[in-house]
Amino acid sequence: MGIVVNQAKDTFHLYNEEISYIIGILPNRQLGQLYFGKHIHIQEDYSYFLEMPVRPMSSCVFDTDKKFSMEYIRQEYPVFGTTDYRMPAVEVFQENGSRISDFCFCGYRIEEGKPKLPGLPATYVEEENEAQTLIMELADNVSGMSLELLYTIFSKGGIIARSVRFANKGEQDLHLTSAMSLSLDLPDREYDWIQFSGAWARERYPKERRLEQGIQSVGSMRGNSSHNHNPYVILKRPFTDEFQGEAIGFSLIYSGNFLAQAEVDTFDTTRVLLGIHPFGFDWKLAPGEEFQTPEAVMVYTDQGLNHLSQTYHRLYQKRLARGYWRDRERPILINNWEATYFDFTEEKLVEIARKAKESGVELFVLDDGWFGARSSEHAGLGDWVANPERLENGIKGLSERIEDLGMKFGLWFEPEMVNQDSDLYRKHPDWIIRTPDRKASHGRFQYVLDFSRKEVVDEIYNMMEKILSESKVSYIKWDMNRSITECYSSVLPAQRQGEVYHRYILGVYDLYERLTSRFPKILFESCASGGGRFDPGMLYYAPQCWTSDDSDAVERIKIQYGTSYGYPISSMGTHVSMTPNHQVNRRTPLHTRANVAYFGTFGYELDLNALTREEQEEVKKQITFMKQYGHLFQFGTFYRLKSPFKNNVSAWMVVSEDKKEAVVGWYRVLNGINLPCERLRLQGLDASMAYEINGDGPAHYGDELMYAGLVTTDVSSGQADKPEELSQDFESRLYILKAVKGGRQ
Ligand code: DGJ
Repeated sequence: MGIVVNQAKDTFHLYNEEISYIIGILPNRQLGQLYFGKHIHIQEDYSYFLEMPVRPMSSCVFDTDKKFSMEYIRQEYPVFGTTDYRMPAVEVFQENGSRISDFCFCGYRIEEGKPKLPGLPATYVEEENEAQTLIMELADNVSGMSLELLYTIFSKGGIIARSVRFANKGEQDLHLTSAMSLSLDLPDREYDWIQFSGAWARERYPKERRLEQGIQSVGSMRGNSSHNHNPYVILKRPFTDEFQGEAIGFSLIYSGNFLAQAEVDTFDTTRVLLGIHPFGFDWKLAPGEEFQTPEAVMVYTDQGLNHLSQTYHRLYQKRLARGYWRDRERPILINNWEATYFDFTEEKLVEIARKAKESGVELFVLDDGWFGARSSEHAGLGDWVANPERLENGIKGLSERIEDLGMKFGLWFEPEMVNQDSDLYRKHPDWIIRTPDRKASHGRFQYVLDFSRKEVVDEIYNMMEKILSESKVSYIKWDMNRSITECYSSVLPAQRQGEVYHRYILGVYDLYERLTSRFPKILFESCASGGGRFDPGMLYYAPQCWTSDDSDAVERIKIQYGTSYGYPISSMGTHVSMTPNHQVNRRTPLHTRANVAYFGTFGYELDLNALTREEQEEVKKQITFMKQYGHLFQFGTFYRLKSPFKNNVSAWMVVSEDKKEAVVGWYRVLNGINLPCERLRLQGLDASMAYEINGDGPAHYGDELMYAGLVTTDVSSGQADKPEELSQDFESRLYILKAVKGGRQ
């Protein structure tokens, strides 16, 4: 890894064994993008990357020349209107009404490691020589705005982390109306764009299309990153698949409004922009003030989509997630939401916990409904004190009873919300986000607290701190069940209303930071009606996230498969729930529900007392299995093998670091008759190790399993009288591979 600066040629080459990223200073002193891709040699001169054919219709920068136009030059952080007509990375509104700026290079620094981003989640380093950061200093002399482009290259992986710092060094008030975290101009458009989109309960389905001239984009203007689109997109070459070929990932470490966009211009170059959504964004910088954008992480690979995902998995698991739980196995939990909804008493909860304990569950989580006047969606949010009518001994008493059973206790909060029917709202009706003189829309009968205000965050912190410090709480589920409407803060002046969405998220991060510092051993699980804020920003504070409110196993195969493109399975909350399933009414076998949930942070979302004795015995076995293999699921390398979006049968697997163990999950949605023979080519094994499968039969070498494939043919598929457990809809199998003694044969 290194950063080579060639001052004679004005180029900067960031590289490691996998990638090169080359920046050049252009003749007009703006920054040009010369190359990003597979590692190439360090050369004296890369100026040939700066192609400047004469374009008859272009506007030109220099009075004496007909060639130099920003319209077709690939840039690092482009502005609009100084001969470039594409969407810019930045726009500065000045006192004279102008939006034109010209950011010219004025210096650079190289720092070892990686600077922290104040108030924002970001990747980090822990060891020496893990990363280096190039900071490019640019200034627009007319407006007085300065900016620094930060580029961090890590010693391992095709990763470049980027962000931008702005400082108003002039004498007038400036407004940032667009400040993207990343802009990348690529020399062609031979890419497929993949976005991860959907809706509540069917989040992060990969959607793919060929790039075309014009703009293609996804984003959120809801205040949260959203169920609808994820702040992560991939550009891949048309022939790239899971196992080979070039791809670039673009991921934003942010939980609020975002835009991810690719613009293909007239000359078939592609500009990717990623950052805070410019719609409604207007950040005022008075003289002397600064602004830091969120961080964006680009990953390049030439080894296919699995490799791209694995690079993100490692980075986000080890250098984004933090704290006590980062490297510890997560507890197997039971959550009472789908077991009771709002209908519970302390005794009922203890009954659920006792049965769960008998089966081996380690953590009992009390969900919504324990506080204030909360007995339905209509009341109580904002009053974070236990409801004595339901919990006569309070959270303190209940948590002690659960601990006495030998389990840990976890608690649900929705810190950012308030119901009108609550003491908090009655005391502070002006604390919600709403526009003066206009109706405030509700979502699930609740309103969003104005987390851009410190006193609001302080009050919620104090309530939470009190209950957490007097009770035995080991886990928090932090929910968020509606998006923002009528965005406005009653304490900010008119010219700062465009800051509210971002200030809100900074308030959320502030509360997370305070709580995780005060209670470093509490495990946080984020949630936003399931997957409405499954983004890298949240993972910095909460290493796991409730993946979706859809707990049906068949639905979850797709949701978890799609989520795995950008996020490690150790970040996905995955639970076994009741049948018929509460979202889709489907009846799936208990083993299939577990076989899907093992590939995540495993738990149960039901009352085990409601199961038959046989099912209860099966659950005990599932928990014993998960305790044995939890480490492998959490820390192993995850591979997607066969997509549920294209096939009736899908599969994935996880392999241990030493490659001596692996678990393959195989899932078939609908049963068939007289089916073709089937093999599944495995990945990531050691070709020369022999593996026993499910503890019996002859061992197979890794090369057999990877190149010839694991035989998964359903031998009963032509039998009319086949046993039901061998032949039904929603069937699944696990194949557990273990290297035979001695490893290699
Ligand atoms: C939405 C969450 O995703 C559910 O798991 C549950 O916590 C409910 N909210 C409670 O209101």
